[in-house]
Amino acid sequence: MQRDWYDTPLYYDIIFDADTPKDGTFLEAAYETYSLGRGGKRVLEPACGSGRLLSEMAWRGWKVAGFDLSQPMLDYAAERLAQQGLKAMLWQDRMESFAKTKPSTFDLAHCLVSTFKYLLTEAHAAAHLRLVAEALRPGGIYALGIHLTDYTRTSCEHERWVAERDGVHVVCNTRDWPADPKTRLEDVRNRLSITNKDGKKHVQETRWQFRTYSAKQMNALLRKVPAFELVACHDFTHDILNTRELDDSYPDVAMVLRRRMPTDTVG
Ligand SMILES: C[S@@+](CC[C@H](N)C(=O)[O-])C[C@H]1O[C@@H](n2cnc3c(N)ncnc32)[C@H](O)[C@@H]1O
Repeated sequence: MQRDWYDTPLYYDIIFDADTPKDGTFLEAAYETYSLGRGGKRVLEPACGSGRLLSEMAWRGWKVAGFDLSQPMLDYAAERLAQQGLKAMLWQDRMESFAKTKPSTFDLAHCLVSTFKYLLTEAHAAAHLRLVAEALRPGGIYALGIHLTDYTRTSCEHERWVAERDGVHVVCNTRDWPADPKTRLEDVRNRLSITNKDGKKHVQETRWQFRTYSAKQMNALLRKVPAFELVACHDFTHDILNTRELDDSYPDVAMVLRRRMPTDTVG
């Protein structure tokens, strides 16, 4: 069955919720380590999805705001927050053109799991970064995670996750094809194999494209958004003590971008 996997938030959430506490710890540590100036624990999550990190950050005492393109994902996020007695400002919007935030409102923003690669043009990617920079206060940080592309790769990459919640068993197989270096697009396919409580099984498949980045291409993009300074990189172990360079020696990078202070000069 062909289906947008974001139309079935429960299955997404079952698979990806396992890392949520670790991600929350990393975000707080990154904020402590890299932000400048004083803030008020206000966090923005562009493309917040099923709300796993909205809940986590609200539970940790942050004032949380998030938006997403998918109404089913937003509905799921709102429901989970309500069930947990937590609050967040939620709305439907696009990463490349979101409008509802006031300038300099947030201390922290984050988008950790390659979601940024849904922005299929350089113009949209740069527009997104400018909007996030504008929404952050000077000295505030944006933690942005993406899977970098090895353009020499000739075979498919494959990842598999298995998880279960309340008797619903989900196997998630993701495959991505070698990127086209000219268009900088890669084809991605996700297959979810779901076994419900009653033992009934079904498979659903989603296909989409991602925009690809080498470290050099990411650096070129960042140069177009001088409001941000790249202050650190980590890999997806999300270990705050383990910093990396922005280079192609490892596949998954969590960049920490800081909104420049008014006194900063652009280097
Ligand atoms: C991989 S999920 C990430 C969700 C969440 N941030 C997390 O860490 O679990 C990607 C999300 O991006 C949303 N999305 C994709 N393109 C978007 C766009 N242009 N603007 C806003 N949301 C978008 C999808 O609806 C989906 O909820």
